[in-house]
Amino acid sequence: MRVLSGIQPTGRPHWGNYFGAIRQYIQLQSEEKAYYFIANLHALTTIDDRQGANRLEQLTFDAALDLLALGLDPNQATLFVQSDVPEVSELCWILMARTPMGLLERCHAYKEKKSKGLSADVGLFTYPVLMAADILAYDADVVPVGEDQVQHIEVCRDLAASFNHRFGDTFVLPKAKVLEDAARVPGTDGEKMSKSYGNTIEVFEDPAAMRKKVKRIKMDSRPMEEPKAPDSDHLYQLFCLFATPEERDELAALYRRGGFGYGQVKEQLADVADRFLAGPREKRAELEAHPDRVREILAAGAASARAKATEVLRRAQEACGLRPA
Ligand code: TYM
Repeated sequence: MRVLSGIQPTGRPHWGNYFGAIRQYIQLQSEEKAYYFIANLHALTTIDDRQGANRLEQLTFDAALDLLALGLDPNQATLFVQSDVPEVSELCWILMARTPMGLLERCHAYKEKKSKGLSADVGLFTYPVLMAADILAYDADVVPVGEDQVQHIEVCRDLAASFNHRFGDTFVLPKAKVLEDAARVPGTDGEKMSKSYGNTIEVFEDPAAMRKKVKRIKMDSRPMEEPKAPDSDHLYQLFCLFATPEERDELAALYRRGGFGYGQVKEQLADVADRFLAGPREKRAELEAHPDRVREILAAGAASARAKATEVLRRAQEACGLRPA
């Protein structure tokens, strides 16, 4: 099994990124081959000035620190920065040449912006094609992601299948892999946790700041004594991500009994999150003190990723007549 996934360096990773995606990266890193990258080309669709550019560079490096601190092992998986593999951008053009407009018009990020009456950039419109190139360039068959990316993996499959149909078998058709318990991690307002909704709690947030955000999680105003259904409650869902099975059962029983305050549950959530993140925090601080080591990991990752992407690009070029077979 060949695994691939990417994360945008548009902000520090939040609980949704970790439980929906990064946790899967770590679980799958010992597969035959695993490629994980920091999608700085995708992030460019949201950067608009020099200040943003400096920030993008820093955030890209920070994302590498974050992934390594959370358990990504460079001896098992290939970790690299998207723009270090320019072959992917060429592959993107090859795919774009025959991508139907209608396919991209249906994609949610573009559709959402249009529905708000905002003008969209070509980069946002063609974003799923670059994603397809990212995936196809490494012959990936499994793409671990949160639910919001599933549509993009379907677009990738469509583009790959249509290229194969036209030019003969060239690309591997990938499948999305979504974890059931964290397909859509809720944010502090109960909606999907997302940088663009401003409802995130960051993985490497300072513990006191994290506790404050947890305290501000929006809840309903039902009376304390009323029994409540745990499974549909976003505070309970967040607690479950960090808690042991026994802790989950105990809290679920309390919900069903009633007679508790949300404040008390929030304290418990902050405690289990703290416990969970103490190790990664320590590891991150250690890595931060050795930036050269991290740069070496990214350079080695880029070299290995480039070798594979070059092979796949050649195959595609030969298939469609851009290079003698
Ligand atoms: P990005 O950076 O928005 O998110 C990274 C990963 O985190 C997952 N995720 C969530 N999962 C569960 N609940 C949430 N609230 C939540 N929020 C985010 C996302 O599903 C994603 O898996 N386009 C991609 C980056 C990308 C990519 C790729 C991914 C570029 N090329 C190729 C896979 C394959 C993105 O913007 O992810």
